[in-house]
Amino acid sequence: MSNIGSYNERIKNFDWSLSEKELEYKEGDIINIGWYCSDRICNMGKADKLALKWEGLGGKEKQYTFNDIRLASNTIGSHLRDLGIKNEDRVCIFLDRIPELYLSFLGILKIGAIAQPLFSAFGDESLHVRLENAETKAIITQRKHVGKVRRILEKLPYLTNIIIVDHDGKKPLKEKETVFSLEEATPVEEFNVFPTKAESPSVLHYTSGTTGQPKGVKHVHYSLISQYLTSKWVLDLQEDDIYWCTADPGWVTGTSYGIIGPWSLGITQCVLDTGFSADAWYKFIEKNKITMWYSAPTAIRSLMKAGDDTVKKYDLSCLRHLASVGEPLNAEAVIWGEKVFGLPFYDTYWQTETGSMMLTNFPEMKIKPGSMGKAFPGITAAIINAKTYEPIAESGIIGLIAFKPDWPAMMRTYWNNEKTYNEKFKNGWYLPGDKAKLDEDGYWWFVGRDDDVINTGGHLISPFEVESALLEHEAVAESAVVAKPDDVNMEVVKAFVVLKPGNNADDEMELNIMNFIRKKLSPLAMPQEIEYIKSLPKTRSGKIMRRILHAQEWGEEIGDTSTLEDEED
Ligand code: WT7
Repeated sequence: MSNIGSYNERIKNFDWSLSEKELEYKEGDIINIGWYCSDRICNMGKADKLALKWEGLGGKEKQYTFNDIRLASNTIGSHLRDLGIKNEDRVCIFLDRIPELYLSFLGILKIGAIAQPLFSAFGDESLHVRLENAETKAIITQRKHVGKVRRILEKLPYLTNIIIVDHDGKKPLKEKETVFSLEEATPVEEFNVFPTKAESPSVLHYTSGTTGQPKGVKHVHYSLISQYLTSKWVLDLQEDDIYWCTADPGWVTGTSYGIIGPWSLGITQCVLDTGFSADAWYKFIEKNKITMWYSAPTAIRSLMKAGDDTVKKYDLSCLRHLASVGEPLNAEAVIWGEKVFGLPFYDTYWQTETGSMMLTNFPEMKIKPGSMGKAFPGITAAIINAKTYEPIAESGIIGLIAFKPDWPAMMRTYWNNEKTYNEKFKNGWYLPGDKAKLDEDGYWWFVGRDDDVINTGGHLISPFEVESALLEHEAVAESAVVAKPDDVNMEVVKAFVVLKPGNNADDEMELNIMNFIRKKLSPLAMPQEIEYIKSLPKTRSGKIMRRILHAQEWGEEIGDTSTLEDEED
């Protein structure tokens, strides 16, 4: 029997107070996610239950019980307090997926500070703009990443503490750097968790839009109410499950469902901190007897590519339930899951801003492969007309996805950017920026994004950010960045570049530019192809018409460009 039971029964008279009750929370109470994910689980008699099974490079393993994560988060929290970090200060976590990432996340929340996890493969510029925007006070990092922080430090006056978690004590420390070793620190048994309330800020995740710099999505401790219940009903986490969320906590899936959801339910979870390979992943599932697996379409397509024979080498009969998020999950991938694991992948749709799942396929609900399923109970969702912003009642008509912004995990604002936040609402609806349609049974079907943002392997990349970075390359005069189709990643970044006179439009230059972006932004933002072009298509007022280049890449009709030239002004 699944946790949700009957979807149709659950949506009748649904109220989030159901989740509040299970979490023994009442309006006005203290609510602290760090405490809920560790102390509370210990208080429920599960102190010795395994919370985290971690595996790193070379098969190195570590294990932590709920009591261990309680103590470790106390210890990190009190260390941060000793350094002068206070509630609502932003503390960036810039770590590979090592245990300290997960444990500091809880420690930061326990002192009421705001956790700002950033993907450790980010380059100097990606790191710089996010720390600058958040006026981040402290950063927790590893020796191998500290060079990036050093190079941008003088541009970050608010950053007072650089905490290195794996320093061997040999190399000299530079300005503002200190060392913290979880293994050597004295565990802190008694700890005063900061009395955060429902609306106290908790997590700041950065996400990319079409224009402007990345936006800091502000979440609050009350988000737990949504994350707990969606983990219970959609991921169907049950007491004896061994759960694996493959996402990095630099992205929202890795925090909402890679830390908060499972641990607030007292579930054992596994983390694999190595690069992707089909064999390594299957071996990890077999070895840890993973029962519930939450992953992403690009990973699933890569596994499909590795072939069915690779699957057959392993005993994966432990798997009980599979889910996916981040980009369109094609019907073939769902059906392939049924063929090789005997289980379909349950697609879920949501985003950094929504903080928790919005549209999902539920256990015990008939899956229509390729569909995102239906709205989670308590979510008012509609397809609305892009001009009138009125809901479209008929099925089969494409419109904008829209939600009434009234669920607990909804973002509270974009950090320091109320204007852009307000622009996300129309006629009382929150618009996530995607298009979809409904079928006659009320199932949701994803159609595409409503903007120029590139979704490569489930990661959003802003064409604007890549174009700006390209302009800093000495040989680049102008550029336009669009998505190009890809078998596995669905979309990859492609750049059209106009070179400055005197530069050679050759392979060497292409590699040079690619590398420049990889280092400056990240491997994900690096163009997979650079096409040299004499001039870019522009509107009459000089704005680049990405739409023409996009259409060319996807083999679509461009239409009358003379009207476009006016329209896009
Ligand atoms: C965007 C959000 C929250 C998970 C990680 C991504 C796209 C997300 C689906 C899906 C089709 C999807 C949307 C959305 N997306 N899930 N099941 N089917 N598209 O979070 O980086 O904020 O990206 O990813 O375009 O708006 P994110």
